[in-house]
Amino acid sequence: MSGNSLFPLSEEHEMIRQAARDFATKEIAPIAAEFDESGEFPSKTIKKMGEMGFMGIEVPEDYGGAGMDTLAYVLALEEICKVDASHGTIMSVNNSLFCYGLLRFGTEAQKQKFLQPVASGKKIGAYSLTEPMSGSDAGTMRSRAVRDGDVYVINGRKSWVTSGPVADFVVLFTMTAPDKKHRGITAFLIDAHRPGYVHGKKEPKLGIRASATSEIVFEDYRCPVEDRLGEEGDGFKIAMAVLDAGRVGIAAQALGVAEAAYEASLLYAVEREAFGQTIGDFQGISFKLADMKTRIEAARLLIYNAAIAKERSKTTHERYTREAAIAKLFASETAMFVTHAAVQIHGGMGYSKELPIERYFRDAKITEIYEGTSEIQRLVISRQELSEVKTA
Ligand code: CAA
Repeated sequence: MSGNSLFPLSEEHEMIRQAARDFATKEIAPIAAEFDESGEFPSKTIKKMGEMGFMGIEVPEDYGGAGMDTLAYVLALEEICKVDASHGTIMSVNNSLFCYGLLRFGTEAQKQKFLQPVASGKKIGAYSLTEPMSGSDAGTMRSRAVRDGDVYVINGRKSWVTSGPVADFVVLFTMTAPDKKHRGITAFLIDAHRPGYVHGKKEPKLGIRASATSEIVFEDYRCPVEDRLGEEGDGFKIAMAVLDAGRVGIAAQALGVAEAAYEASLLYAVEREAFGQTIGDFQGISFKLADMKTRIEAARLLIYNAAIAKERSKTTHERYTREAAIAKLFASETAMFVTHAAVQIHGGMGYSKELPIERYFRDAKITEIYEGTSEIQRLVISRQELSEVKTA
């Protein structure tokens, strides 16, 4: 049913995929509905995921990670999200939005201090770009960092921080030179246990309810100069480069959710009877299944393509912005299409909390919003296409 035969995977890739599948089935599946309902953060399973090496898959073993490649990361994430997108969100932010940025832009001392504990799953990492008045237009933030000797004093309010309530360390983007607009943004590595880091309101959410999301308020937080990530003014480009990585992960998350909804629908179509036959024998259902499967397989190839482009960029340093945006756009819209059809195929049972179908439907929606909305992905893709024609 997974239909992955077209894409040859190495033994190592098959192994991590199987390990993630086994872990998700054994450890996450029994608790997913309960944690979705309560909105509680699943600390125990996340800790176990760290022990399995899932929280820093692409980070070299010397820095506490699993030392694998991007394809290994997306395969594992897809399997986790196929069972529960909340666990997948926590895993994806830790891997892509925290570890990747630090690995790429951090100093050796920063890697020892911040990357080691997060990649090994002992601590949790988060990423904070968005503010109440600065979402898609990320260059317009109002929070500020002002240099005072060997520290920066940070003030302001950040919002929609995945893992905000539980994070130990946060990659923060804030303004050091507001007159320079996006070129005045600087990145900092924040220790959430220091004075001046104040937990803001936790967001009540439609989906991915077990992943904790909140505001963070900075009140005269004093960040040592050595915890600045990159140079002053590099922040916007770091944020965007890290989001390229993040978008490959969100695409894999969307694929996992879509696959779960599709496989449940396929089984239901051969079990459920109406008007004297199984519902899969009606063209109205079978054509839906065909469209769901086709989009899933197309999304998979776009994601693996983006994963390969990301992996290649580790040596060539070429951007893979377009590949990541295309994969995220298509996979997230596929997740919405497939989960919507899955609810319809299941009828009343698709709407019931007795089955996970309604959870897949709620969880799918966020993939069209966070780490850049579908509209932002279209902007990114079309801008690049048009600029290449103009400069040709
Ligand atoms: N990599 C490296 N550099 C990049 C880049 C990338 N992917 N994208 C842009 N840049 C550079 C550009 O080259 C440009 O450089 P110069 O200053 O040298 O010219 C600079 O950044 C500005 O680029 P743009 O002119 O394209 O910037 P813009 O203001 O028009 O914005 C945007 C572009 C695509 C709309 C961008 O703002 C964007 O992606 N917005 C969406 C933000 C987003 O995804 N937010 C989600 C936050 S995370 C989250 O969801 C929460 C969570 O915890 C999961």
